[in-house]
Amino acid sequence: MPRGGGKGDGELAAGLDKKPADLTGLAARNGGTFPTTRVMAQIWGYTGGRDGDRVMPKFSALLDGALVPYDGGDGIMTPTPVRLVELAEYLKVLQK
Ligand code: HEM
Repeated sequence: MPRGGGKGDGELAAGLDKKPADLTGLAARNGGTFPTTRVMAQIWGYTGGRDGDRVMPKFSALLDGALVPYDGGDGIMTPTPVRLVELAEYLKVLQK
């Protein structure tokens, strides 16, 4: 799988204690529906208070910038950082 394939098998993965998730199966593991808001929260760094066992870096600091209206699945257009929208839409394309 080429770099950016989202399977969590990139060249640095072998050196990590906990393997990054396979992001191509997010929809399949969620009954066929891409879990957009949960995915965005994970990228942002929102853990619902379970910060202690989190391995993945938070990307919230990298997501500052323009806000765009985006429907994350609840039918409501919400001002959302454009880079977070781009990542979510990219991950949708990778679903198997
Ligand atoms: C743009 C880069 C990244 C994106 C978009 C991303 C996205 C995600 C998403 C959506 C999940 C949840 C998977 C699920 O619910 O099944 C996840 C989990 C995870 N990611 Fe990432 N990730 C990124 C970078 C990284 C990096 C750099 C690491 C490690 C250094 C990492 C490690 C993990 C781990 C270990 C999990 C399992 C849950 C946890 O322990 O937090 N991720 N990632």
